Amino acid sequence: MLRFEILTLFPGMFEPVLAHSMLKRGQEKGLLHVHIRNLRDFATDRHKMVDDTPYGGGAGMVMKAEPILRAVASVRADAQSNGEDIRVIFPTPQGRRLTQSYVQELAGEPRRIVILCGHYEGVDERVRLALNPDEVSLGDYVLTGGELPALVLIDAAARLVPGVLGDPQSVVEESFSESLLEYPQYTKPAEIEGIGVPDVLLSGHHEAIRLWRRKQALRSTYLRRPDLLRDRLFTEEDRRLLDELMNEGLVAAPISCREEG
Ligand code: ADE
Repeated sequence: MLRFEILTLFPGMFEPVLAHSMLKRGQEKGLLHVHIRNLRDFATDRHKMVDDTPYGGGAGMVMKAEPILRAVASVRADAQSNGEDIRVIFPTPQGRRLTQSYVQELAGEPRRIVILCGHYEGVDERVRLALNPDEVSLGDYVLTGGELPALVLIDAAARLVPGVLGDPQSVVEESFSESLLEYPQYTKPAEIEGIGVPDVLLSGHHEAIRLWRRKQALRSTYLRRPDLLRDRLFTEEDRRLLDELMNEGLVAAPISCREEG
């Protein structure tokens, strides 16, 4: 069971997403558990204050450290009373870029995964210093808070838990698990606005279809994300498919790569 503990000022942002599709199914099957906690419940003062003005002045508000530290302590105590531990993640544009290998690590995480959703202009630095969380960025842009990144982490990790998706093969075959982009997919009808489906896909020749798909995946990766091919070990088959693509003029110069074996 993959367990998340979300610390947020906006608990209502989670339910609509968690109540649909695979995340709903994962929870119903007992493979995924997401506990949402409102940080405001951990504020102790009369006004339930969770943010305050920054020392040194400046615009905006800063999230106070104590409610967050109290919330994490509460989750930790809860986990420890069950013989479990916690791992804390803080989504922030200052973090390490999220990758599929990090997501894979999370999917196999035996500890409860606490995701601390920041807001406003920032979070009191002592939260970082006290908790030393994994700082994770979705990319070089700024969101209003950590809630959407938290949902992205939950979604990406949950789908790797065996049983959450219908067809386990779809996880094995997909892009990034193997660092290749996906081959193009088609479904009925056989023609739309004069655009047909590649003949090979209608041929029923499984081996020819497999090779075509592999070649298309290599081509797409070469054209869109050549960085994913750099220093890759190619099988003899991949090497041959890349040669074919080059001979057909579908990819340009040979890419710098090493042959396998
Ligand atoms: N919080 C705000 N922007 C973010 C980003 N790009 N990634 C992760 N967390 C964030």
